[in-house]
Amino acid sequence: MLKDLVKQCLPLPANSKLLVLGAGFSGQHVASLARALGTPVLCSRRTIDSPGSNLVFDSSTQVLPTLESLDGVTHVLNCIPPTGSGDDPVLSCLLEQLNALPLQWVGYLSTTGIYGDCGGNWVTEEAQPHPEQPRSQRRLACEQAWQASGLPIQILRLPGIYGPGRSVLQNIKSGKSKLIDKPGQVFSRIHIDDIAGATLHLIARAAAGQWPKVVNVADDLPTASKDLLSYGAQLLGRSLPALQPFAMAAEGMSPMARSFWEENRRVSNRLLCQDLGYTLMHPDYHSGLRDCFLQDEFSVGNRSSDQVIQDSDSDLDHQK
Ligand SMILES: NC(=O)c1ccc[n+]([C@@H]2O[C@H](COP(=O)([O-])OP(=O)(O)OC[C@H]3O[C@@H](n4cnc5c(N)ncnc54)[C@H](OP(=O)(O)O)[C@@H]3O)[C@@H](O)[C@H]2O)c1
Repeated sequence: MLKDLVKQCLPLPANSKLLVLGAGFSGQHVASLARALGTPVLCSRRTIDSPGSNLVFDSSTQVLPTLESLDGVTHVLNCIPPTGSGDDPVLSCLLEQLNALPLQWVGYLSTTGIYGDCGGNWVTEEAQPHPEQPRSQRRLACEQAWQASGLPIQILRLPGIYGPGRSVLQNIKSGKSKLIDKPGQVFSRIHIDDIAGATLHLIARAAAGQWPKVVNVADDLPTASKDLLSYGAQLLGRSLPALQPFAMAAEGMSPMARSFWEENRRVSNRLLCQDLGYTLMHPDYHSGLRDCFLQDEFSVGNRSSDQVIQDSDSDLDHQK
């Protein structure tokens, strides 16, 4: 919860201004935390009418923010996924503007999909990426383009993102959840509180000279989908459909959903939590889902539909 995060996070350095490019689910949460800590923040979305939008940036229509509108920006967080053809929207449209700014830190939200299948083993940032899915190959190419950009870049690799308004709880409530049994299969996750907390922590560590190029931002407990769903159902007081073997469930899955189940890895957060000293707000899905449950209940009737944003990754990630 934001008020708890504020207590454990440091603000950005004095006179900083943060630009969040693609302030959707994660970006808005990072922006809220930075603002609560006293840092001015600008958020881009594709339309000015979208909640929290200060600037319009849309690479597909080439609507770009002017350099004047970015005046004073010192830190950037890019939350925009690659285009279908594999270009990074920011690098292809805004590099000139970014190069003209006195940037101290640029963060790029990437995915742990770039590691490919790890046979259920733990994977650290030192592993050689071997993305198998085309979307993960495009993502790795974008990471490499960011590393070569000459900007002060740090890559944050994220597993399935969840948080209030976007978790298994929504699927359980709508009756869409399937309880699938695939022995040995786990998924890693991260709650948006920890995306926001880790982002601010990494900015502070970078300012102090501790700046790994790539950092996994994942919780402590990779989990089987059925365990997560069972806990969610318990919180909601609902029952779930009968457990189905994976082979049977896979028949009705979209190719995209099936591709998520083809990869099995435990994403290590040792660099973030031990070497860089970040303390997770939600070390596991018990804490994270309880938070979602409480905040969803609290905001029933108050939440705008736009806060329940789903993209091609998230659509599936919160079902796992
Ligand atoms: N969802 C997951 O479980 C997951 C897991 C690992 C990594 N990731 C990646 O982490 C990042 C943040 O995830 P999220 O779920 O917070 O994302 P999100 O809510 O879907 O937000 C994506 C943002 O990108 C903007 N955007 C998309 N295409 C654009 C374009 N062509 N030009 C300009 N802006 C564009 C969207 O604009 P609007 O606000 O106007 O829609 C939105 O603000 C994404 O890159 C995502 O792929 C996601």
